[in-house]
Amino acid sequence: MIHIGNVPISPPVGLAPMAGMTDSAFRRQVKRHGGCGLVVSEMVSSEGLIRGIDRTLEYAEFTEEERPVSVQIFGGDPQRMAEAARVVEAIGADIVDVNMGCPVPKIARHDAGCSLMREPAHAAAIIAAMSHAVRIPVTVKMRAGWDDRAVNAPLLAKMVEDAGAAAVAVHGRSAAASYGGRSDWELIARVAQAVRIPVFGNGDLVEPEHLLERWRSSGVAGVLVGRGVLRNPWICAQAAALAEGRVPRPVTPEDRGTFLLDYIDLLLGERVGEPAGFRHHAASAPGRGATGLRRERWVINKLRALGPWFTKGLDEGSHVRVAINHAASIAELRDLIQRFFFPALSPSQPQCLSEM
Ligand SMILES: Cc1cc2nc3c(=O)[nH]c(=O)nc-3n(C[C@H](O)[C@H](O)[C@H](O)COP(=O)(O)O)c2cc1C
Repeated sequence: MIHIGNVPISPPVGLAPMAGMTDSAFRRQVKRHGGCGLVVSEMVSSEGLIRGIDRTLEYAEFTEEERPVSVQIFGGDPQRMAEAARVVEAIGADIVDVNMGCPVPKIARHDAGCSLMREPAHAAAIIAAMSHAVRIPVTVKMRAGWDDRAVNAPLLAKMVEDAGAAAVAVHGRSAAASYGGRSDWELIARVAQAVRIPVFGNGDLVEPEHLLERWRSSGVAGVLVGRGVLRNPWICAQAAALAEGRVPRPVTPEDRGTFLLDYIDLLLGERVGEPAGFRHHAASAPGRGATGLRRERWVINKLRALGPWFTKGLDEGSHVRVAINHAASIAELRDLIQRFFFPALSPSQPQCLSEM
C-alpha cells in the first residue's frame, strides 16, 4: 500500500485520465473488476469549475464506489487554479491533479497542459498556490518534456515536489512526440530517483505483465494505465492476479458483451446512485437529466468512442466497430452486442443476459 498525502492507494495501479473515455460509468466498471486502486477523472477546465458551468461540473462527477478519486483540472493561472482546487475539494474529491501533459493546442496555447513544462517556475507557482488553498493532496501529471531537446521531467518533478505536490505521474513521451515512439521508462526511473514523493509511471502498458515488469524494474511507486484499459478493462485485475501468483482469468467474448451492456445501463443511469459530487447539478447531466432522445444520442456516441479501442485485435472487431457506428438506437446497440458477443444464445433466451 502506498499513500498520496494521507490517501491510501491499494493496489498502486491507477486508471489514467482520458478525456471522452474515463467517465464515471467507465471508472465504476473498471473498479468493479478489481485491481485498480485509483481513478482519475477526465480533465476538467478550471475556469468552467469556478464559473459553475454545468457541462464542466458533469465531468467532475463521481460516485462513492470510485474512491479514492482524483479530479484532474487544467489551467494556467495560479490563483484561478487554486480557486478551482477549492471547488474540487468542496465536492468531496480525494485528490486534485493538474494536467501538465496535454498537447492539444486548444489547451496548450492557453498556458496550460504541456505548455507548463516549458515554464517550470510558473508550473511550480501553480502547485504552490493550490497546495496553500486546499487540504486534499495536489498531484501533477506530466510528460517527459516539451520536446526531445527539452526533457525536463526530473527537474519539474523536483520543483513541484518542493512547491507542495504530493505525487507525480509521468508519461515518458515528450509533448511533441504525441503518441509516436515509446514511453521512456528509463526517464521515468530517473524521475522516481529525483524525488521522495510517489511517482506513477505511465505509457504503453498494454498487457497485464507489463504493469508488473515496469513497476518492479523502474522503481516507481505505482503505475497509471490508459489505452490498455480501454482495450482490456480487466488488465488491472489480471495484473493483480499475477502479483498474487495466480493465473489471470481469460476474458471471454461474454465478458466483453456484458461489459458493454452494463456500461450502457450505467450511462443511462438505470443503476446509478446519486453522485457524491454535485447532487444539485444532476438534472443537467446529459446522462441523467437529458430528455430521452438527447440521452440516447449521448450514450450511442460514448459507445462509438469506446468501440475502436475496445474491439482492437478482436476476431470480428472491425465488424463490431462498423455495426456500433451504424447503430441508431440503444435497442440496436444492445441487439448487435448480443449477436457479436453472445453468439451461442438463441433469440429465445435473451433473458439470460440480464443474469450474467
Ligand atoms: C483518448 C485519450 C484521452 C486522454 N485524455 C487525457 C486527459 O484528459 N488528461 C491527461 O492527463 N491525459 C490524457 N490522456 C493521456 C493518458 O492519460 C496517458 O498519459 C497516455 O495515453 C499514455 O498512457 P497509455 O499508453 O497507458 O495510454 C489521454 C489519452 C487518450 C488516449
